[in-house]
Amino acid sequence: MEVQIVADPLAGGQTGYELFATALANESRVFGLATGSTPITTYDQITASNLDFSECISINLDEYVGLAPTHPQSYHSFMQEHFFAQKPFNKSYVPNGLNMDEHDETARYEKLIAENPIDFQILGLGQNGHIGFNEPGTPFDSITHRVTLTQSTIDANSRFFKAKEDVPRYAYSMGIGTIMKAQQILIEAYGESKAQAVQQMIEGPITEQVPASVLQHHPNVIVLIDQAAAGKLKGKY
Ligand code: F6R
Repeated sequence: MEVQIVADPLAGGQTGYELFATALANESRVFGLATGSTPITTYDQITASNLDFSECISINLDEYVGLAPTHPQSYHSFMQEHFFAQKPFNKSYVPNGLNMDEHDETARYEKLIAENPIDFQILGLGQNGHIGFNEPGTPFDSITHRVTLTQSTIDANSRFFKAKEDVPRYAYSMGIGTIMKAQQILIEAYGESKAQAVQQMIEGPITEQVPASVLQHHPNVIVLIDQAAAGKLKGKY
C-alpha cells in the first residue's frame, strides 16, 4: 500500500484529481466510482478540469434498495449532481435500486463488471472499516450482493434523510472480491472519525472484521488520507 498524507480534504481533492488524470493518461477506460462525502473534493477538482471521460465507462459501487434513481438521496442522484452532469461518461452504471429481484440485479451487475473490468476504482472508508456497503464480517470473496445495512451505517447515513426511519435498510453493493479485481484502487479517508479504521486498514491484521484490511493483499493501492485520519497510525509514512 502506498500511503499519501495530505493537509486536509481540499489538498486530498487535488491529489485525487491528479491520480484520475494519470489513470486516464495511462489508458484507464473503466472507472469504479464511490459516493459519500469523502470523494467530493476529488470530484469537484475533476469536474472543474478539462479531463474528458466521454469515451470511458463508470461503474458505481452501490445503491440503496428501494430508492428510485430520481430520489434525491439515491446514489444515482448523487453521481448526477457531483460528477456526471458536468463530466459525462460514454456509459454510466449504478445498481438499479428498484429491481426488487435481488438475484437478478446482483447477477446482472456482476456480469456487467466482468464484461467491463475496472481499471481504476475509487473508494471511501466507513468508520467501521467498510468498503462499498461491505460491513464487518462480509466474506473477502463476496461478489455483488444485497446487503442489510448495520445500525452504525444507518446512523451515519441518517444525516442525509429527514428521519432515521427514512434511511433504507438494504443496499446493492459490489462485493469485496469484486472490488479486489480492479487493476488499481484509490481509497480516500478524511477526518478524525476515520482514524481508527485507517490504522486498522493499514497496520492491523487482515481480517473480515475490518473489510478494508483486505486491501493489504492488493498489489496496486494508494491510500490518500489527511492529517486527522492519519492520527492513529503507529508507523511513519
Ligand atoms: C459509498 C460507499 C461507502 C462510503 C463510506 C464512507 O458509495 O460505498 O463505502 O465510501 O461509507 O462514506 P463517507 O465518504 O460519507 O464518509
